[in-house]
Amino acid sequence: MSTGCVLVAAGSGTRLAAGSPKAFVVLDGRPLLVHAAERVLRSGVCQHLVLVVPDGRQDESTALVSGLAGAEGVVLRAVAGGADRRSSVAAGLAALPADVDVVLVHDAARCLTPPEQVAEVERAVRTGAAAVVPGVPVSDTVRAVDVEGVPRGGPIDRTSLRLVQTPQGFRREVIERAHALASEHGLPAALAATDDASLAELLGAPVTVVPGREEAFKVTRPLDLALATAVLAQERAAGATS
Ligand code: C5P
Repeated sequence: MSTGCVLVAAGSGTRLAAGSPKAFVVLDGRPLLVHAAERVLRSGVCQHLVLVVPDGRQDESTALVSGLAGAEGVVLRAVAGGADRRSSVAAGLAALPADVDVVLVHDAARCLTPPEQVAEVERAVRTGAAAVVPGVPVSDTVRAVDVEGVPRGGPIDRTSLRLVQTPQGFRREVIERAHALASEHGLPAALAATDDASLAELLGAPVTVVPGREEAFKVTRPLDLALATAVLAQERAAGATS
């Protein structure tokens, strides 16, 4: 029995407008994919790591990640992603060997996710949960509006809301059945493309929410890169003083 991580990194990064696929945008001298993989490897909980990358970049990606600390003893593969996130996750799942019983699905765009978060999600699945997501509280006031921007209903009670992050962890049969169901029945693209736990929930699998961390934010827009640069500088300063 072992744990496999599917690291999805095949997105185009249109909203980042950095001129290359998002996972290959360079942050502090290294692609986002490398930052993300390094933190997954440092968690020490994965025996298998599948990089899901734009077609044609498999060898380059394997070479970038194979030399990282923590990669020794981890079986590394790289496969081509699909047209949307769900098909990229499916390609990664298909590359996992038979002995993997716990699967983590992680966005490379959440490139500064602390290793502790990866380990906590894995532990929650190992100790019995079927599907696990990290979530952080919402700090803004949230309102629903119609297509014209007119508020519908009052402000939503934010204390009951969580922003859902990755890695999301699953018993293997749960994530595989969820993806099979999604491809058979063609679930709404918006749901299927962004969140694997919601797919699992459609099967009736209970989803457990564990505390997430602000550093696991997703790099989506140019401002997020500035934030990521600041977080890395802060980490370095903390490392220098500890
Ligand atoms: O586009 P978004 O930021 O929501 O993508 C989340 C993650 O899914 C990213 O790490 C991205 O590389 C990945 N993705 C993928 N294949 C796609 C679309 C997104 O691997 N076709």
